[in-house]
Amino acid sequence: MKHVLVTGGLGFIGSAFVRQALTERDWHVTVLDAMTYAANPANVAAVSSDPRYAFVHGDICDAAAVRQAIGRGVDAIVNFAAETHVDRSILDPAAFIRTAAIGTHILLEAAREHAVGRFLQVSTDEVYGDVEGGSSTERDPLRPRSPYAASKAGADLQVLAHHATYGMAVLITRGSNTYGPYQYPEKLVPLFVTNLLDDQTVPMYGDGLQVRDWLHVEDHARGVLHVLEHGTIGEAYNLGGGNSRTNREITEQLLAHTGRSWDSHVRHVRDREGHDRRYSLDASKARALGWSPRHPFEAGLAATVAWYRDNEAWWRPIKSGEFRAYYERQYAHR
Ligand code: TYD
Repeated sequence: MKHVLVTGGLGFIGSAFVRQALTERDWHVTVLDAMTYAANPANVAAVSSDPRYAFVHGDICDAAAVRQAIGRGVDAIVNFAAETHVDRSILDPAAFIRTAAIGTHILLEAAREHAVGRFLQVSTDEVYGDVEGGSSTERDPLRPRSPYAASKAGADLQVLAHHATYGMAVLITRGSNTYGPYQYPEKLVPLFVTNLLDDQTVPMYGDGLQVRDWLHVEDHARGVLHVLEHGTIGEAYNLGGGNSRTNREITEQLLAHTGRSWDSHVRHVRDREGHDRRYSLDASKARALGWSPRHPFEAGLAATVAWYRDNEAWWRPIKSGEFRAYYERQYAHR
């Protein structure tokens, strides 16, 4: 691999991948990013002056922008570009379907036209739907239950169809809930941390006993890198952190790290519609390939709280911008 096109490279997980690809490999990296609300150039500031880094501002739904980015001579595409927040997909599914269905289609077709050697689709454990018991394997049926999860499952199927039909060299990773620095503060961990640092309450959906499997963003990015280099073409790989926690457990840890108490800082609110109770990934296939998470969860979460405490300059402008209107719409009447 010499030159990788990273779509959505200014987002949370995409930017972690870009930072790793430039510091741990000798590759050239071109980022194609639409710069919608969750993208942030600050996420790649540590590497963007590297001469091997290039940026193209554009949407994966825009064939001309995609052609311009691929035309720079890329050997591989890693598609992180997506709308990702379940609650936003419930309020307004259109953007999710557009980016995942049309965007992935345009990207796949451009990759085919330019004979790009490898296409890795970054997916999610949410495509398997609610998992009552046990853990999802890559052979399990896709049973998405939110507009977000459905948009991602549809993209996975397009990618697999391009492999079956055109013999395209594709790979899929399905990561579990990801936490760490540079995460847009709409998701559970950064929303709760920044609210608590600001001495505000945190909105807990329903009974808070929903279970997620937590993965540090650097472990997630390293998993994508590993599958890109070592994965078997045409296969999907689950990247699960192996850290199953209820939302209550996460909240208790965050309260402890910020010196707040449950009674004064947790606000119980109406549950999310169609809320998946539990996700759990069987990551043995990726582990057999040689990947395993390095960040122990409790230490990783503590370091993440410390990062938000030390990097107010990163999140405060976000929380005072577009985010306020979203927060009002999402939580005011809950
Ligand atoms: P989230 O970070 O949105 O990720 P996902 O829905 O993709 O798993 O949510 C993680 C869990 O936290 C999920 O069970 C919903 C819950 N949650 C809350 O209780 N309150 C909140 O304000 C948010 C954003 C999430």
